[in-house]
Amino acid sequence: MVVKFLNPLADASQFPAPSVAATPKFRLRDLDLAQHTKGDVRQTTFTRNGRGAIGIAGSALKKKNAKNIILIPAYHCPALVEPFIWLDYEIRFYPVKPDLSVDISVLEQAMSKGDITHCVVVRYFGFGQNNNEVIQFLHTRPVEIIEDCAHSLFRFVDHFSDSGKQVPDVSASICSINKILPTIDGGALYLKQKYEAQLTHVGWAEEAKACAFIVGIPQFISKIKSVFKKVANSGQNEVFEPAENEDIALRYFQPIDLVSASYRNTKSIFCHSNLKLIRKKRRKNFEYIINNVNNPDVGTPLFTSLNEEDIPYVIPFLLTDEKFFFDIRKKGIQILRWEEVAVSECQVSQNYRSRLIQIPCHQQLSTKQLNFIVNTLNELHP
Ligand SMILES: Cc1ncc(COP(=O)(O)O)c(C=O)c1O
Repeated sequence: MVVKFLNPLADASQFPAPSVAATPKFRLRDLDLAQHTKGDVRQTTFTRNGRGAIGIAGSALKKKNAKNIILIPAYHCPALVEPFIWLDYEIRFYPVKPDLSVDISVLEQAMSKGDITHCVVVRYFGFGQNNNEVIQFLHTRPVEIIEDCAHSLFRFVDHFSDSGKQVPDVSASICSINKILPTIDGGALYLKQKYEAQLTHVGWAEEAKACAFIVGIPQFISKIKSVFKKVANSGQNEVFEPAENEDIALRYFQPIDLVSASYRNTKSIFCHSNLKLIRKKRRKNFEYIINNVNNPDVGTPLFTSLNEEDIPYVIPFLLTDEKFFFDIRKKGIQILRWEEVAVSECQVSQNYRSRLIQIPCHQQLSTKQLNFIVNTLNELHP
């Protein structure tokens, strides 16, 4: 099946610079230099991004001299699907239910011909849905299971830590570090079968530029320059712009992602982040917003409580009307949504493209920002 991604519905340039950002910013004081999770991450490969980790997993698990047919959930962002297009997999989408769980009988039906070789299972937004049951079912089929923990860094880390937490037996698991931690780039990959990925680090000059960027030096310089009405763009951050894609059919994935390591400073931030504290803050912020937003005219959250394992990346919230997306963005809250989902028969995914928004609940939100989110949502009316 040829995959056709839909076009974006909105553009960031339509909105003011956000006062409540989707992800946290780097602050030295958030690092816990006394702790080091090195032991926990020995088996981890640090890739440039999540899509790179997916691509490396897809490449390592590809069957030689056989057709590779992969099942991917119909609700996704293109960055999750594109590596498999690049690797020449045949892609089939399976539907999701309104709470983003998966109907196992539908999955069983999709596998009834016995030709599926791989299946992706996504832990959406840091929530488990019924993934454990899905993975249990997949163990009864001869397929490679790729667990997408792009939003679930904490779950991903459980693959290595000695927390004693039960983790599913999967062929590969990936995560996207800069969704949860204040890094410039970063994906991580766990492969059950050892696979020596040959990844290249950037040179030390580029690494130094990245360090300067992360602590805000080029941004500070360009602010000063603009005060003095000099040319605003110093060009110092050009390395962080996405390079032009060689293959116009792909919007996000670049083949170079398959061979690129993350910045070294990404790994350091990962190893020195206080994950325990971040878990606690994200859960607390989720609960604060959920307990205080009460405006069914605007919409309803997809999940109203957290189980022990859920650590939200964002709060998925279903709008009654897509127009509220614009109202909230114009207020300066950087909500996101997956507008470019591929065409499929899954009505939930097609509908969520415009109506399911992702509300920030990251560890750096202040009480003032939390109240701003709550009040904005409560004050909107049709
Ligand atoms: C579910 C999911 N998987 C994979 C990815 C790819 O992660 P990254 O942006 O780090 O490449 C993303 C984000 O784009 C995602 O949301």
